[in-house]
Amino acid sequence: MAGFILAIDQGTTSSRAIVFDKNMENCGVGQEEFPQHFPHSGWVEHAPDDLWQSTLRVCRAALEAASLEASEISAIGITNQRETAVVWDRKTGEPVYNAIVWQDRRTAAFCEKLRQDGREPLVSEKTGLLLDPYFSGTKVAWVLDNVKGARARADAGELAFGTVDSWLIWNLTKGARHVTDATNASRTLLFNIHSNSWDEELCGLLGVPMSLLPEVLDSAADFGTSVESLFGAPLPICGVAGDQQAATVGQACFAPGMVKSTYGTGCFALLNTGSEPVASSNRLLTTIAYRLNGETTYALEGSIFVAGAAVQWLRDGLGVIGAASDTQALAEQAADRDPLYLVPAFVGLGAPHWDPDARGAVFGLTRDSGPSDFARAALESVGYQTRDLIDAMQADWAADGETVLRVDGGMTASDWTMQFLSDILAAPVDRPEVLETTALGAAWLAGHHVGAWPGMEEFSSHWRLQKRFAPGMLQDKREKLLKGWREAVSRTRKSLF
Ligand code: G3P
Repeated sequence: MAGFILAIDQGTTSSRAIVFDKNMENCGVGQEEFPQHFPHSGWVEHAPDDLWQSTLRVCRAALEAASLEASEISAIGITNQRETAVVWDRKTGEPVYNAIVWQDRRTAAFCEKLRQDGREPLVSEKTGLLLDPYFSGTKVAWVLDNVKGARARADAGELAFGTVDSWLIWNLTKGARHVTDATNASRTLLFNIHSNSWDEELCGLLGVPMSLLPEVLDSAADFGTSVESLFGAPLPICGVAGDQQAATVGQACFAPGMVKSTYGTGCFALLNTGSEPVASSNRLLTTIAYRLNGETTYALEGSIFVAGAAVQWLRDGLGVIGAASDTQALAEQAADRDPLYLVPAFVGLGAPHWDPDARGAVFGLTRDSGPSDFARAALESVGYQTRDLIDAMQADWAADGETVLRVDGGMTASDWTMQFLSDILAAPVDRPEVLETTALGAAWLAGHHVGAWPGMEEFSSHWRLQKRFAPGMLQDKREKLLKGWREAVSRTRKSLF
């Protein structure tokens, strides 16, 4: 077997596909951005057809870049933006509404109502999640209640719901398979992570008929075969995981206590807690890291909604940088004086605050504050937010040794940002040689399942450190900075309206 794996990474702002060879080296990439739709304040949608068509094009582009025929590919692995919900007609495959994206806040009032009705403990106990509009379940209910005729069609068994992986597999198999994996299911608010099954009581509570739900498989399994007409040969789909879980796999965080943090649009830190789900007392999520051979590995997750998006805001909102890669150089020009704090609560705050109504704020402005201070504050906000997550993780789960953070994602290219992260965490930060960890994780799930790639141990030994950032900041300075940050966050949470 040639051992080439086609990894699809369908993300929030772009679709990517990477062909990896049997040595797990990247040998061809396709990437495409697609439109974002913001129909109302706080609403974020994607056209399901854009998700599918852009995925199809980038797969073809990656095959071409690798100079390969589809028949040389052993399997497809899929990883995807999580929680984003698509509802479609089982007969025609037509979506009944746009995909409602994970960032979308339209169901905040519904979540608040459920919380006031005292439902959060039940939901948390079963799903490991919290009542926040971030997750899929309330988005599906919104579609059924707001699209004309949708609820009646759902009750008649005519509709299907899926996260983006399900939607892509449905299209790749021309409607033959309606499936997902356990990691994606664990982000819906409808899946019991202890029994590993859809939960009737939760479906009833949220008003989502169980007939809409896909079959849930292990993360490495037979998800179906793409129809021949798409790539010129039928390709088995053998690995699926949500993008943060795929990055956990790609970073080889297989042992309890290992932590990874991915810096994309947002930042998501996952701590492997092994075969036992750990309930958080500090507003973190308990989630499925991966399910292999029927065995579930759990993680504690800290989710921050704005990381790289703060840099995008400097570029597109403030116009103080031309390209994201200019941020470090600008930040370095900032004078070392009393800090400027940016709390990037542009879409509310995620973990550990979970405040959908908070909005961004800047503290510490003086007459001579300028673009360089804003750039520095944006990069530092990523470090401070990660520190909040790691503190919560350490309070929930006593680590045996020192915590080392494995990082990946676009922002980790900045040495300055990674050094500040290490300084503020007072912990080492490890940047690997391969930064395509999300796609690599999906490729490993598929490649290993078809027997073309090595097992977990050998795969782990391929993980190579590119650079370790060691903390160098004095304790006093760190404490002073953190005190200011915590005060800034607490003032941000006091609503102005
Ligand atoms: O939970 C949302 C996350 O999966 C989105 O990831 O990389 O598409 O911003 P990304």
